[in-house]
Amino acid sequence: MFRSSICASCRLSLRSTVRRPATTFLSASAPLAHRANIAFTTQATFSRFNSTRPTSQNDLITKLAHGLLVRRAASTASAEAPPAEAPSPPPSPPVNSKATGYWLLFSASLVFGIVVIGGLTRLTESGLSITEWKPVTGTIPPLTHAEWETEFAKYKNSPEYKVLRSEDMTLAEFQYIFGFEWAHRVWGRAIGLVFVVPTLYLIARRRVTPRIAKRLLGIGALIGFQGFIGWWMVASGLKDELLEEGKHPRVSQYRLATHLGTAFLVYVAMLNTGLEILKSHAKSLPSNELLSKPELRPFRRYTHFLMALVFLTALSGAFVAGLDAGMIYNEFPTMGGPGRLAPPLSDLFSSDYATSPDHSDLYWRNFLENPVLVQLDHRILATTTFFATLALWIYSKRLPLLPLPAKRAADACMALVTMQVALGISTLLMCVPIPLAAAHQAGSLALLTGTLVLGSRVQPVRRAIASQNKAMKAAGVVGLAGMYVPGRRIEGL
Ligand code: HEM
Repeated sequence: MFRSSICASCRLSLRSTVRRPATTFLSASAPLAHRANIAFTTQATFSRFNSTRPTSQNDLITKLAHGLLVRRAASTASAEAPPAEAPSPPPSPPVNSKATGYWLLFSASLVFGIVVIGGLTRLTESGLSITEWKPVTGTIPPLTHAEWETEFAKYKNSPEYKVLRSEDMTLAEFQYIFGFEWAHRVWGRAIGLVFVVPTLYLIARRRVTPRIAKRLLGIGALIGFQGFIGWWMVASGLKDELLEEGKHPRVSQYRLATHLGTAFLVYVAMLNTGLEILKSHAKSLPSNELLSKPELRPFRRYTHFLMALVFLTALSGAFVAGLDAGMIYNEFPTMGGPGRLAPPLSDLFSSDYATSPDHSDLYWRNFLENPVLVQLDHRILATTTFFATLALWIYSKRLPLLPLPAKRAADACMALVTMQVALGISTLLMCVPIPLAAAHQAGSLALLTGTLVLGSRVQPVRRAIASQNKAMKAAGVVGLAGMYVPGRRIEGL
C-alpha cells in the first residue's frame, strides 16, 4: 500500500536505504548493475521492515521516498535500523560471474578425470575389490597390516576372487587393485564436494540467475544419483548367484552403461553451462547476429544430432566393455572371416539369449546381451558417427557464413573422430590392451567435448541474454538507461 504511493525511482532508493549505507547506492554514478543488485536483495526484506517499524519512521521513509533529503536521511534511516538485525548480505549480482563459468569447466575436467580412472579400474579388473559401500569412513584406506588382511579376507569371499583369481594372489597384488577402486571412489567424493559446496554458496548468496541455479541443483542431484548407481553397479558383481555354473562374475552391462551414461550427462551439463556463462561475458559478440541467421539453422541442428550420435555410440561402447565383447572377432573391417562384414544371423540372434518360453525377447536381449551383436552394433554406430562427422566437416567448409571459431571446432571434431576410430580399431585388433582401451574411452569424451564446443560456437547467446535480462527485470532496472544491449559488454557486470 505504502509502496504504491511513491514513484519508481524513489522506491529503488528507499528499498536500498532500508538495508545499506546511502553512499553505496545513491550515487548517480553507481553502476547500473550495482543499483540493480541492491534492489534485488532488499526487495524481499522491505515489507517485513515496513510492517514492523514505528509510524514515525514510516513517515520519515515517506519523505525519503519523495526525494527529500535523500542522502542525509538515508544514512539516518540506516543508523536507526534495529541493532538486532543481522548484517545484510552482499549484493547479489543478477548475472552469473565469469568465475562461476570457470568453476564449472574445472568441475567438468574432474569428471573427465574420473571417467579415465573408472576405465582403468574396469580394465585392471579392480572394480570389485572393495566389497562395501561406506560413503564417509570409506575415504580412509586400510592403514595397518591387520586392516589390510581384513579387507583382503572380505575380497576372498567375493565371487570374482573365488572364480577368477588364483589362490596365490598376494596381498601386494590385492593392494594394487584396491588402489584403483579406492582412488575412483575418493575422486567421486571430491567431485561431490567441489561441486556441491560452491553450488550451495552461490544459490544462498544469490550469485547466480534462477535458471542457472536450477541447473546447478539438477547437476548436484545427478552427482548424488551417480554415487548410488556406482554402488548399485558394484553390488551386481558381488551376488552369490554369480558362482553358479556358466556365470561370469562381473558387473551387469546394463548398470555399467547407466553409470557411464550418467557420468557423460554430468560432464555435458557442466561443460554446457560453463560455456554458456562464459559466452554471455564475451566482451564483444560480433558473430551473434550472424549466428542468428536462418541459413545457419540446419548446421546447428546437425551439430545437435551429431552430439546425440556420439553419446549413443559411447553408450553402445559401454555394452561392448561390459560384456568383454572386444575379446572376440578381433578383425576389422571384416567380422566372421574373410569377405564377411557380419557374422551369420544365427550367431547375431541366438536363441540362447531368449529367456521367455515364446522367445518374444529374442531380439532385444540379443541387442543388449549377446557380445556378437553388441560388437556389431558398436561398429555400425561408430562408422555412422565417423561419416556423420565427415559430412559435418565438409558442410562447414561449404558454409561461408560460418564464423571461423566454429570452422576450427569442426576441424577438431574431424580430427578427434579419426583418432577415436583408429583407437577403437587398434583396441579391437590387439585384444583390448589396457593403455589403448583407456585412451579409447578418454577419446570418446574428447570427441563429445569437441561436438559440445562446436555446438556452443554456433549457438547465438540470445538465451543467455534473455535470462540475464529477466534477472535484471526482477531487480527493477527495466527501462533505465544503459539497459543490456545484445552484442555489447554490460557496464559493471
Ligand atoms: C566414434 C567412434 C567411437 C566411440 C565414440 C566409441 C566409444 C566407446 C566407448 C565409450 C567404449 C567404452 C569404454 C569403457 O567403458 O571402458 C568403447 C569400447 C570399445 N570400443 Fe569403441 N568407440 C568408437 C569407435 C570404435 C571402433 C571403430 C571400434 C572398432 C571397430 C571400437 C571398438 C571398441 C572396443 C573393442 C571396445 C571395448 C574396449 C574395452 O573392453 O575396454 N570402437 N567405445
